[in-house]
Amino acid sequence: MGIQLIDREHSDTTLRATRTTNEPLAASSRSIGEGRIHDLDQLGISGMSLVSAHLSKDNLSGARDILITALRSRLWAIFSQFPENMISVSNVSMRYGAKVLFDEVSTGFTPGKRYGLTGPNGSGKSTFMKLLTGELDPQKGTVVHPKKLGVLSQDQFAFDRYRVIDTVIMGNKRLWAALEEREKIYAKPEMTDADGMKLGELEGIVGEEDGYTAESDAAILLQGLDIPDHVHERIMGELQGGEKVRVLLAQALFGHPQALLLDEPTNHLDLDSIHWLQGFLNKYEGVLIVISHDRHFLNKICTHIADIDYETIITYTGTYDDMVVAKTQIRSQIEGQNAQREKKIAQLNEFIARFSAGTRSSQVQSRRKEVERLQVTELARSNIQRPFLKFEQKRPSGKHILELESVSKSYGDAKVVRDFTASVIRGEKIALMGRNGAGKTTLVNALLANSPTVPEAELRKTSGYEGEFLSGGKVIWGHEASVGYFAQDHKALIQPGMTVFEWLHQWDMSASHEEIRGLLGQMLFPRDDAEKRTDVLSGGEAARLIFCKLMLQKPNVLVLDEPTNHLDLESINALNIALQRYQGTALLVTHDEDLIDEVATRIWHFEGTHQITDFKGAYAEYQAVLA
Ligand SMILES: Nc1ncnc2c1ncn2[C@@H]1O[C@H](COP(=O)(O)OP(=O)(O)OP(=O)(O)O)[C@@H](O)[C@H]1O
Ligand SMILES: [Mg+2]
Repeated sequence: MGIQLIDREHSDTTLRATRTTNEPLAASSRSIGEGRIHDLDQLGISGMSLVSAHLSKDNLSGARDILITALRSRLWAIFSQFPENMISVSNVSMRYGAKVLFDEVSTGFTPGKRYGLTGPNGSGKSTFMKLLTGELDPQKGTVVHPKKLGVLSQDQFAFDRYRVIDTVIMGNKRLWAALEEREKIYAKPEMTDADGMKLGELEGIVGEEDGYTAESDAAILLQGLDIPDHVHERIMGELQGGEKVRVLLAQALFGHPQALLLDEPTNHLDLDSIHWLQGFLNKYEGVLIVISHDRHFLNKICTHIADIDYETIITYTGTYDDMVVAKTQIRSQIEGQNAQREKKIAQLNEFIARFSAGTRSSQVQSRRKEVERLQVTELARSNIQRPFLKFEQKRPSGKHILELESVSKSYGDAKVVRDFTASVIRGEKIALMGRNGAGKTTLVNALLANSPTVPEAELRKTSGYEGEFLSGGKVIWGHEASVGYFAQDHKALIQPGMTVFEWLHQWDMSASHEEIRGLLGQMLFPRDDAEKRTDVLSGGEAARLIFCKLMLQKPNVLVLDEPTNHLDLESINALNIALQRYQGTALLVTHDEDLIDEVATRIWHFEGTHQITDFKGAYAEYQAVLA
């Protein structure tokens, strides 16, 4: 098992220690005189006298050998008292096609520490997490993990069809599979002998996995996470972001896992819910590994950062900001050394070129050798890249782009949007802000359902909603309005089984291959990646592909529902700039304060009372008014 560790206090020195669990660091013990010295404890008085005997004979190396052997063994004794890494990987490599995600990685994760797993979109975070959970097998190397792991996957919509309480129980896969199979057998009109035998076996599993108290155990967990009883029977798809994450956390915690692995848990969460999650995670005592692009969040919870870059994973002590400092230092140090070496090589080569034909052949020869020795080991390139986003309009819309007249939407008795009236002018950038469940997506859906360009089928797919999108009032889009839409569940629109190129091309068959390839390249899908299958896209890659579609369609209205979820920092910046430069109209649902601050020219603030405050000015002005 190898441990690779970089301590921020000593970031100038990279400490790499390698140990093998069943083999002491000092595998050899030395035989000196008639005594064998195995470790410092054994060294004792007789050992010390051996050392001094050597010293008195000026046999320094003999004395040194005894001491080194003893020290090594002592170190091993100290190492073996460290708490075992509960999760460890050794010599793990993963690559897809030409892209190396990480090569020969050995690292471990110990209880009581809270690790952030970082890296840009597509760097392999979710893949690494799947290796840790056993969902994927590494192409090379081995992974050791405890039997019970709690996992929250990146796709928070995966359980939308299931009841809340069932979703929690699914956290215990073995139990859930047994319960389902048992259900199927009971549903049969007639049972065979084999069915009876199977039932016996299944009951055994249900018993072993505490299945008879599963519902009440799940209910207690949900209550602990502030999900009231009446929600337990509802369907996941009806829950808003904050509630959904709580239920998925309950799922992850179900069955008392020794480790908790969370893939982007803050996506779709408002600030209050993020704060709640921080408090919750800081109290967790097992091994915690969290993937996130949210710097503030990572700074609040992490004791360590495992960063994927340069085709490896390096674990830094400290928070995200500490990692950035340490990483920059190490990087600039290596680059500085390389620059020195390159300079030296250039000088030597100049000498070789000048004198190779002359009489100084031995000097030339020795310089050639020196060049070979100095040859710079090529640094793996950093995987941090910035996409280039640019939203254009095929043709501008009329001045009055959208009218809302007493728009209302209720779910059953609950009125979520109440009599909202507003008029939107071309070029406005409106930020829709407010807490989880305040009704932002509900209003957006009501507007889109009545838009000339977003097909209803698409909206059904992304919202998973089958009822009426508008309960009362009117939505009137202006002449020439063409709406481009980025859905909160944007992945739902990317059907599997196609290549990235095919998926994008279908939205405008008249576009040339060069145009499609150009757009993909701009959004960091190089040539090979255009042929990648849509099934395997990472969260951020899927989002980038939707942006390609919007750039291809060139709409004059952009409706973006939480577009920064899944995006890395570079992509969020690129989106921010693109939206600022966009000449069309934009409606933007987001919790990202920078985006609201720098892009919005108008605010629709969804208040707790289901009223919407319509403020015609920038966020800073709005805050000043509120203060
Ligand atoms: N089965 C596969 N075949 C080919 N490529 C794959 C496969 N699975 C994943 N990939 C690619 O591997 C890379 C890493 O994917 P992964 O989902 O781990 O990224 P990530 O770091 O979680 O990114 P994000 O921040 O966007 O969620 C991506 O480029 C993805 O397209
Ligand atoms: Mg991911």
